[in-house]
Amino acid sequence: MKYKVIRNEKYDFIGQSYATAYPNMHKYPATMIPQIGIELFKELNVFKGKLLDPYCGSGSSFTVGLDRGLNEMYGFDINPLAVLISKAKFTKVDISKIKEGKEKLRNDIYEFIKNEQNANSVQIPDYLNIDFWFSREVLKSLSIIKNFIYKIPFEIRNLFLIPFSETIRECSYTRNNEFKLYRIKDEQIMLFNPDVYGIYFNKLNRALDIYEKYYLPKINHAKIEISFNKFPKQENYFDVVLTSPPYGDSKTTVAYGQFSMFSNQWLDIQNARQIDNLLMGGKKVKELYKNSYITKFIEEISNQSIKRALEISSFYYDLHYSINDVATSIKKGGKSIYIVGNRRVKDIQLPTDQFVAEKFEENGFKHLFTYERLLGNKSMPSQNSPTNKVGQRRSTMTSEFIVVCKKIK
Ligand SMILES: C[S@@+](CC[C@H](N)C(=O)[O-])C[C@H]1O[C@@H](n2cnc3c(N)ncnc32)[C@H](O)[C@@H]1O
Repeated sequence: MKYKVIRNEKYDFIGQSYATAYPNMHKYPATMIPQIGIELFKELNVFKGKLLDPYCGSGSSFTVGLDRGLNEMYGFDINPLAVLISKAKFTKVDISKIKEGKEKLRNDIYEFIKNEQNANSVQIPDYLNIDFWFSREVLKSLSIIKNFIYKIPFEIRNLFLIPFSETIRECSYTRNNEFKLYRIKDEQIMLFNPDVYGIYFNKLNRALDIYEKYYLPKINHAKIEISFNKFPKQENYFDVVLTSPPYGDSKTTVAYGQFSMFSNQWLDIQNARQIDNLLMGGKKVKELYKNSYITKFIEEISNQSIKRALEISSFYYDLHYSINDVATSIKKGGKSIYIVGNRRVKDIQLPTDQFVAEKFEENGFKHLFTYERLLGNKSMPSQNSPTNKVGQRRSTMTSEFIVVCKKIK
């Protein structure tokens, strides 16, 4: 090991969840609980300046920034659902307009469905395999809700789309406690008859309550820009970066694209089925990743499977280029905080924490410290089959690493 790792129990936050401090408005895989960032900012004395999260997901870093009094933040993500969630949470809107919008939506839908002919005339989308995942009744109701949501003014619409996105998933035939899409059993399907409108309006009330209580009071004076994009470098611009990049490619770690597929389809996102290929490590490469502490681990994997070693290399190439851009974009004296997992592939643990520290040091940074924390409260796929043999399962990750570096050149 090149860079020392300190086991720090303070950061375990055992028994605490996202909801303990700031409830989330929409489920999202592998969210960072804001308590971690809040504690780190206290420890590092970060209380002002510009914050960047190049992989912002559902936006926990901005919650951290707001809690610590920062008022300028920038986030990027290439999953449209992540951008929707973050924008809804961190965009200031007039709450009275929201409440009026809610009443109007309720009345419009009620008036519309009173007439059975209306409901039968509604146009239903035609995504691939749509009938495999939804009943015709559910599709009708979802289409009606969607039509009326799109009549709501654009400035406030995101807050209505968030509960819609959750309703889509809950009313589909997918098992709800998984990130990936698995259809429930046929006998469960026969009994499955969700009250789509009831579910939607309950979720809408909850989302608006959370927004009003936890987020709106904090975003009054803050500028938070969230972009549906890969992070483009911006020289010497940011004071602090707080981020948790993906742990590996989406296909074999956290399936962000698959988790978000229904929502992205219903939100009319083009290529909604291809998101996983666009995320880090999603593209094929022809050469193993070389000249790094990680190389010998990748080579060991290549002894077992060259295909897997190339897939892993693709992820580290992407992370490498991204760290180069992020490093250039941090001001001298600024700090980078990366929260990463060291996943296991073919029974070999990949030291991503060491990789991150190494790349920042190659870019004019000094490694300050790495803390190891237990992963008790993150919703993660915690087991895999290292050899792909049935019955051989072991934990892929039980802890994660907080890697902190400072720009000195
Ligand atoms: C671990 S999650 C971040 C979770 C976030 N901290 C939160 O609390 O919700 C990683 C995110 O990186 C995004 N992502 C993956 N590859 C990306 C890329 N090349 N550029 C931007 N975002 C990317 C994924 O869509 C996912 O939302």
